[in-house]
Amino acid sequence: MASVIKIVTSNPGKWLELSSMLLSHGIECVWIRERVREVQSDDLAEIVRFSASEAYKRWGEGVLVEDSGLFVSALEGFPGPYSSYVFRTIGLRGILKLLEGVSERGAHFKSALCYVAAGGEHVVAVGEAEGVVSDRPRGEGGFGFDPIFIPLDAPDRTFAEMTVEEKNRYSHRGRAVRTLLQLLEARG
Ligand code: IMP
Repeated sequence: MASVIKIVTSNPGKWLELSSMLLSHGIECVWIRERVREVQSDDLAEIVRFSASEAYKRWGEGVLVEDSGLFVSALEGFPGPYSSYVFRTIGLRGILKLLEGVSERGAHFKSALCYVAAGGEHVVAVGEAEGVVSDRPRGEGGFGFDPIFIPLDAPDRTFAEMTVEEKNRYSHRGRAVRTLLQLLEARG
């Protein structure tokens, strides 16, 4: 593993969550606050592999890229890979509106991480967090759909009502980072 991981994201929330987790494992990070080109796909792992290749071309080995989304069961997995666009357009209110009167409110977040190691080798890790969509937004923390997502593992609060450390304990992103670190440790 490179001594410093270059986290490539334009999203301050992702940077905060990823860097605080990695730092707690003694790994130094730098923030490359840029957008990388994304490929259109229903598969987050495929999207993140492509973006990581783009990032590797510009910044070399040690880059880490993440792609994530919210998958709502009653909406057949929508918005999924289109979460960023849907958040910017219809937003939290739009998702709550689509679920008005719907009692089955199950959903999950998914995160796919791709780290590019020496020689350009891609290491991919995914993580999921199961939960439900709340009936109204709650909390000021986090980003994106956090105010309307209640994880099953801490069912008294939305992600937006948690500290960064708490959210990392239960989140898709936290799980993906733990898996990535295991994969990197196993490679030596
Ligand atoms: P992308 O990974 O940049 O394509 O963006 C994924 C989008 O999914 C974000 O813009 C958020 O709207 C949403 N999202 C992904 N992860 C989270 C999270 O941890 N909390 C809240 N929303 C998230």
